[in-house]
Amino acid sequence: RTALTVPKLRQMKAERQRIASLTAYDASFARTMDACGIDVVLVGDSLGMVVQGHASTLPVTVSDIVYHSACVARGLKSALLIADMPFQSYATPDRAIDAATAMLAEGGASMVKLEGAGALLDSIRFLSERDVPVCAHLGLTPQSVLRLGGYKVQGREEAAAEKLLADAHAVADAGADLLVLECVPSALAAEITRSLAIPTIGIGAGPDCDGQILVLHDLLGINSGHRRPRFVKNFLEQGGSIDGAIRAFVDAVKSGAFPTAEHGYD
Ligand code: KIV
Ligand code: NA
Repeated sequence: RTALTVPKLRQMKAERQRIASLTAYDASFARTMDACGIDVVLVGDSLGMVVQGHASTLPVTVSDIVYHSACVARGLKSALLIADMPFQSYATPDRAIDAATAMLAEGGASMVKLEGAGALLDSIRFLSERDVPVCAHLGLTPQSVLRLGGYKVQGREEAAAEKLLADAHAVADAGADLLVLECVPSALAAEITRSLAIPTIGIGAGPDCDGQILVLHDLLGINSGHRRPRFVKNFLEQGGSIDGAIRAFVDAVKSGAFPTAEHGYD
């Protein structure tokens, strides 16, 4: 396998090759995922919950992400590494460029991910115009948990769906190279995916995104103490081993066998 680059993501979309993505937080799992054919590895701020044991992603810091990103980077040969920008680390373009520079220069990431559109479009534009590839993240944005009052499906009402579609175009126009869609109705995610040139990666966003991502711990059925969302699938059950689970996930994403309608929302 040759190393996956940012421009190749768009090529994969054009060639209808689905993008298989997982989160990782350390070198050992990163090495295993890379060997099993995962295309994109995300050092998610989900680490606040699954690694640090917090109730939300809000306490995660830039130095936490840089540390874990550097660990993961040492395990990767071919997969593209994305580092998640913590809560408020991209609230202004000036903060965003400092945080993102640390993630690329010290953390070894090739792209940073940030949640939202609206006021954050300035940060997306600022970063992408300064050669920091950006992955946007819309729908359920876990850093908005206090304002949202919980983790809920987004874009179900007509006005909310129209706003989400407009936001998706706005982040792409601002220079995002990739878009994560989390917990949005499958039909809306399909429409967004069809109408954008950049690839979408879904989690709880139905089968028609250009790629899929899961949190590593969810793939392995490690119970976090939270209610298991419907989009989660335990691949360890069918895979039989950690390598088997990751390979089963890659195969299921590539073939379109995962997710099915039952993993998505109306
Ligand atoms: O932090 C994370 O793991 C994420 C993915 C679920 C997309 O943002
Ligand atoms: Na995240």
